[in-house]
Amino acid sequence: MRIVSGIQPTGSLHLGNYLGAIRNWVRMQDSMEEGAQCLFFLADLHAISMPHVPAELRRATLEMAAALVACGIDADRSVLFNQAQVPAHSELQWLLNGTARMGWLSRMTQFKDKSGKNREGASAALFTYPVLQAADVLLYQATHVPVGEDQKQHLELARDIAQKFNNDFASEDAPVFIQPEPIIPPQAARIMSLRDGTAKMSKSDPSDMSRINLSDDADTMVKKIKKAKSDADALPSDTEGLDGRPEALNLVAIFATLADRSQAEVLAEYGGQGFGVFKPALAELVVETLSPITTRFNELLNDREALDAILARGAAQAREIAGPTLAAAYRSLGLLR
Ligand code: TYM
Repeated sequence: MRIVSGIQPTGSLHLGNYLGAIRNWVRMQDSMEEGAQCLFFLADLHAISMPHVPAELRRATLEMAAALVACGIDADRSVLFNQAQVPAHSELQWLLNGTARMGWLSRMTQFKDKSGKNREGASAALFTYPVLQAADVLLYQATHVPVGEDQKQHLELARDIAQKFNNDFASEDAPVFIQPEPIIPPQAARIMSLRDGTAKMSKSDPSDMSRINLSDDADTMVKKIKKAKSDADALPSDTEGLDGRPEALNLVAIFATLADRSQAEVLAEYGGQGFGVFKPALAELVVETLSPITTRFNELLNDREALDAILARGAAQAREIAGPTLAAAYRSLGLLR
């Protein structure tokens, strides 16, 4: 079993990333059997597919590394690194560009969303982004990839690329790549914006009030929950009662996920109560869960040397693991080296 996943170092880590992905990474790391391995990386190469400021990217990469360690990723047990220190990611992407089809990439909803109306002006990297993501996981023979719902389509593409590459260039008994399985947490798959229950909580939302950042202090977290969009009705006593109430559903989902309870259990306790009661309880839970992480995060941010050392060591380990698969990919394509 090998678990691989990544996160873009753009903006700060928010509650959606944490509940949708990172908390799962930590749980998988903590329950690893002998011989299994976790690799987690900062997708800094992905981050240049959108307009960016170099100094900001440098700062955000270190900040995201600190956030992951603060959340519980342990660099002694997991391999933690940034893509840019492992050239095999870019190399394999180019090799896989020969296998990925234009039609497959054109169907990616993230490309359509992020390029918007200005498709002609979007970077070529934004279009080939999912091929780099496929390289990220295929390079390490990942068996499982823990992600939020929004990354499912990219993972399906990685599986298609692996299958076509194996069909076209490898013998049946010696495939070059494994087809990885996505692992998507059932109830936190999509944490929504605090300002709009139909839009996902995102680093790129211009309103900071739309998300809880792990770098927010307790007062800010409380204020954001208090101001979160809700409705005038009391909470229902069962989950069907949340139909057509996206903001109420989102707040209940956040509560349930943080407390590791089902939404039905949360509603059994709070059904009939208004948001005047529910929001303070949610705010308390958010602060209680996130404040130890925030404290550790702030300490780590001041230790640049330690962060550099963690990423350098992780990258050296990643380069070593990637070596044989990259060599097999070159070889099977007929490239002399
Ligand atoms: P990114 O950086 O947007 O998000 C990192 C992880 O957080 C999850 N996530 C969410 N989950 C639930 N609710 C939300 N509102 C929410 N927002 C984000 C994402 O699903 C993701 O798991 N392309 C990827 C990074 C990447 C990657 C990879 C992931 C690059 N290579 C290889 C897995 C394997 C991305 O931009 O995620």
